[in-house]
Amino acid sequence: MATQSTSPSETKVRPKMSGARKRRIALYSVLGILGMAFILPLASYSVYFLGNDAIAQDVGSAVNPRSNYWRAVKEGVGGYTAVQGQETGVLIAPGGTNWQQVRDNTLAKYLPWLVVGMFVILLLYHLIHGKNKLDEKPSGRKIKRWNWLDRLVHWVTAISFIALAITGVSMLIGKTLLIPLLGKAGFALWAQASITIHNVLGPVFSVGIVMMIVMWIWHNFPSATDLQWFKQGGGLFSKTHPPAGRMNAGEKVWFWLVTIVGLAVCVTGLIMVAPVYGIAIPAWAEFLPFASGTRPDMQQAMVIHAVLSLGWTAIALGHIYIGTAGTEGAFEGMSTGYVSAEWAKQHHDQWFDAVEAKGKIIEPEGTSQTGTARASATS
Ligand code: HEM
Repeated sequence: MATQSTSPSETKVRPKMSGARKRRIALYSVLGILGMAFILPLASYSVYFLGNDAIAQDVGSAVNPRSNYWRAVKEGVGGYTAVQGQETGVLIAPGGTNWQQVRDNTLAKYLPWLVVGMFVILLLYHLIHGKNKLDEKPSGRKIKRWNWLDRLVHWVTAISFIALAITGVSMLIGKTLLIPLLGKAGFALWAQASITIHNVLGPVFSVGIVMMIVMWIWHNFPSATDLQWFKQGGGLFSKTHPPAGRMNAGEKVWFWLVTIVGLAVCVTGLIMVAPVYGIAIPAWAEFLPFASGTRPDMQQAMVIHAVLSLGWTAIALGHIYIGTAGTEGAFEGMSTGYVSAEWAKQHHDQWFDAVEAKGKIIEPEGTSQTGTARASATS
């Protein structure tokens, strides 16, 4: 094959570009680059201005793969973690958001009003009706009503109840109520103390409740007399005194409330201080409520705990009122263990008759004893 060679004389010599042309090209290039830099980012707006739905839909349907991942995380889908345990692979439990709304927008907003409402009712009752006084002046004759263990258990439970109520309400609405008073740092300190006090006293209170149930259940079984007591409204709005045995029907209702609500409050409280206990529950017991010990269980337990304990606190105000400012001579019974014979006759007539029949009324020191026990009210 023959090759064609070109002589150097035939080589085309490009004419040299003039300086002015070079500058023009450089200027247009810079202007072009700047124009693109401004116009290209605005391209997406053209979709809107052009009103081109088809393009817009196309742009909208472009899915970022990371958003699917985070959507799944937000929906509570579990992932992998080296920490093995209940729900450890779950980064976000979506039920928590619902629970928080129920807690903040319903429980914290309305429940404290139960306590305030009861306080107002009792105050009005006291202002209108006054103290429930003894008809007869105490003569000094006494009857033993509560032994030292009864009183110890009652006061340990009562004092821990009050401390639990104050710290519990601080945890529920303290942020709104106490930050304006204590400031943020002061409230943070009190909130931490509240949690510790609540967690320590909760078990003490639970033991007290169980002991009260075991020791006093025998006095609190319903009887026919209770119906009469209810028919007469417990004597709350009349001058008459309805019949009663050792405990009247109102006290029996209080006792059963303490039993049922008390146990429910203690169990739901324990569920909250012992999360993830579900791993310790044997398979055969998994049908039991709250057996899994998961976060949804704890959220439900918290709602039940808050509703019951604030409702109970409201009713407890009634019990505290009756035991102190409301009834002459009642507090003496739970503080010294002894009540006056006149108090017993007025509020627990059938019990008084039975004690008298057994000759167990304690006469005052220095008086003659007619078949009754020797006076020693302080013994
Ligand atoms: C400062 C608060 C309290 C006072 C002044 C108080 C006063 C009294 C009094 C005077 C009695 C004896 C009533 C009687 O002899 O018939 C009594 C009984 C009782 N109290 Fe309290 N109490 C208080 C708090 C509490 C609390 C917080 C609870 C429960 C958590 C409670 C549970 C009981 C029970 C179960 C009885 C026996 C009722 C029965 O067996 O039917 N008390 N209380």
